[in-house]
Amino acid sequence: QMTPLISPSILSADFAKLGEEVRAIDAAGADWIHVDVMDGHFVPNITIGPMVVKALRPHTAKPFDVHLMISPVDGYLQAFADAGADIITVHPEAGPHIHRTVQAIKALGKKAGVSLNPGTPAKMLDYLIDDVDLVLVMSVNPGFGGQSFIASQLRKIEAIRKAIDKSGRDIHLEVDGGVDLTTIRSCVDAGADVLVAGTATFRGGPSQYAANIAALKGLG
Ligand code: DX5
Ligand code: ZN
Repeated sequence: QMTPLISPSILSADFAKLGEEVRAIDAAGADWIHVDVMDGHFVPNITIGPMVVKALRPHTAKPFDVHLMISPVDGYLQAFADAGADIITVHPEAGPHIHRTVQAIKALGKKAGVSLNPGTPAKMLDYLIDDVDLVLVMSVNPGFGGQSFIASQLRKIEAIRKAIDKSGRDIHLEVDGGVDLTTIRSCVDAGADVLVAGTATFRGGPSQYAANIAALKGLG
C-alpha cells in the first residue's frame, strides 16, 4: 500500500504562535501545510486571510495547500497567490462560475483544486477534470475542525478515483475532515493520496506531532 501525503490543517494549531507551529509540523514530517480560510459567510466561522499566509511563508518551504471557504472567491485569488499559496482550492458551491475560477487560478501559475461538500455529487467534476490539479473531498461539512468523518463520502472518493484514473491526468485526490487513525485507511483504500489532518496532527502538543504524523502514514 502506498504512503499518503499528510497535509496538517493549521486550524488546530495554537494561533498565538502560528509560525512556530508551522515550523514544528514541517520538522515533524508534514508533506504540505493545509490552510483553512473561512469568511463567516460561505461557512459559519472566520479564520485567516492572505496577510497571515504571507507572514507564515518564510517559516517553511513545504507547499501551502490553501483551502478557500469564501464567497465570492474570485476577487481574492490574486492575494492568496501573492501571499505564497502553492495550491488554491475552491468550492463550486461558493459561486456561479467554477470553470472560470479554476482557469483564473491556473493563470496565476498556481495549482488549482476543487472541493466538494458532503452533499455535492462527484458528477460536479465531469467538466472540470480536464483542468484541475487536485480534488478535495470534504468528509465533514466545512467550518470547524474536530468533526466526525461522514462515511458516505467513501463512495464518492471511489468514484472520483475512477474518474481521475480514466482521465489519465496527474490529479491529487485529497480528503478533509475527521481523518484520524480510525478513518485514514478507508480513505486511502478508496483512492485518496493526500489526507488533511487537523485534530489528529496537533493532538498532544508539539512533542507528539512527529509520532502523530508517522502513525497516520502507517495508516493507523
Ligand atoms: C473544515 C476544514 C478542515 C478541518 C479538518 O472546514 O476544511 O481542514 O480543519 O480538521 P479535522 O482534521 O480536525 O477534522
Ligand atoms: Zn480544509
